[in-house]
Formats: sequence, C-alpha cells, structure tokens
Amino acid sequence: MKPGTLYGLGVGPGDPEWIPVKAVRILAACQHVFVPKARAAADSVALDIARTYLRPDAVVHELTFPMSSDAQVLDASWRQAAEAVCQRLDQGDDAAFLTLGDPLLYSTYIYLLRNVRQLRPEIDVVTVPGITAFSAAAALANTPIGQGKQLVTIVPASDDLDQFERALDRGGTVILMKIGDRLQRVLDVLQARGLLARGVFVARAGMPHQQVETDLTKLRDREPQTGYLSILIVQA
Ligand SMILES: C[S@@+](CC[C@H](N)C(=O)[O-])C[C@H]1O[C@@H](n2cnc3c(N)ncnc32)[C@H](O)[C@@H]1O
Repeated sequence: MKPGTLYGLGVGPGDPEWIPVKAVRILAACQHVFVPKARAAADSVALDIARTYLRPDAVVHELTFPMSSDAQVLDASWRQAAEAVCQRLDQGDDAAFLTLGDPLLYSTYIYLLRNVRQLRPEIDVVTVPGITAFSAAAALANTPIGQGKQLVTIVPASDDLDQFERALDRGGTVILMKIGDRLQRVLDVLQARGLLARGVFVARAGMPHQQVETDLTKLRDREPQTGYLSILIVQA
C-alpha cells in the first residue's frame, strides 16, 4: 500500500483568517490531524485556529512533547511522536501536523519532520508555509521588518539576553521572540541603549486580548499578562 503524505501546515499566529488557503484545502481533505498535546494554553492555539476548517469527521491526535532540556528525553519523545505519525501514514492515510505561525520557524514540526524522514525516508512531505508571528506583529503595528539593505535579525530570548544585545550591536531590525517573563529585563536593555522609542511590542497577535504597544514605556507600569505569545520588533 502506498503510504500517505505528511502535511506540515502553518496555520498563522492567531487570526483564523490568516491561515493559508492551501492549508484550508488540505484540512478539508485530510481526516487525521496531529497537534502537540496541550501542556499550556499556548499549545492548543494552533488547533484553536484551525478548528473551523477541520472536517466534521476529523480525528485529532495529540502528540506529547515533554518540557525537558534533557536531549535524550527529547529525542525519545520526538521519535515516539514520529512513530505515531508514521503508523497512520503506513495505513495509507494522509496526516496533517498543525503549527502556530510558520512550520519551519522555532517549531516542534522541525523535530517531527527530521524523525519522520529518518524512520521513513520514502514518505512524501508537503510543508505549507504560514504567516510568522513577526510578520503579523509588523502588520498590526504598520512597521517595516526590513528596508533597503538593512540587516534583519531574529533572536529567541534566552536567559542571559546576550544574543539580543549582540543583535542590537549589529544594528538594523531586531525581532525578539519567546520573551516570556523576561520582558522587564528586555526593557532594561532597550532603555540603557536609548531604544525604548524605537520598538513595538505585540502580544497575542490576532487573538482575543491582542496588545499592540508602540510606546514601550507603558509596559513598565502595566506588565502585560501575555506570557509566551509576545514579540518585540526594534529598529536598532
Ligand atoms: C515556538 S515559537 C513559534 C514561532 C512560529 N512558528 C512563527 O512562525 O512565528 C513561539 C513564539 O512565537 C511568537 N508568537 C507566536 N504566536 C504569536 C502571537 N499570536 N502573538 C505574538 N507572538 C507570537 C512568540 O514570540 C512566541 O514565544
């Protein structure tokens, strides 16, 4: 039997109208939908976005990815998830894996894809790009991502913010993702560099309680309860 196709679908970062037409078409044809198991509210976001486009008989399979920094634990869970997807594909069914934003930007799909490729190199994979969170954030704030020969750097916030500082040193546009609970420390860095007036902060883009803030000083006294789903774009 010919195995099914794996579709990695970027559903966009929030507004269900940001989902690509191609992803909608695939969801209308694909009964088996895989999503990371919801550990926190953010994890179920991709499914929430895609929900209205699922077939009435869609079967949603949740894949478990532990919150661990242990490489062996993570490898084992990605392998297990890939095996679950491959089992379905082996039965001749297509499978869609949903990703918030774009599937190939800081996404679980990247690990899943690598493992599926290792287990079944022959399987057809179609990755459908999605609107990234930073594209949506820039659009909501009507701010450019890059112009002329400007450098654009995407930085995932880490505990020490070193990468962020180095990116600011290089100049151009700096996009900071995965801010989490580091917002005040990020603002300290911007304030020290006199950049508070040159950034936009967007939380929960395209979702209920969306926040678009072009005056970053306001975030000093009104810490947003946005947690994980927030992004900063700075013209350094
Ligand atoms: C694991 S990454 C996923 C990125 C995603 N694949 C993309 O293409 O944008 C999660 C980070 O994306 C950003 N993000 C995703 N959705 C967002 C949203 N609706 N509003 C603001 N930031 C968002 C946040 O910085 C969050 O920490």
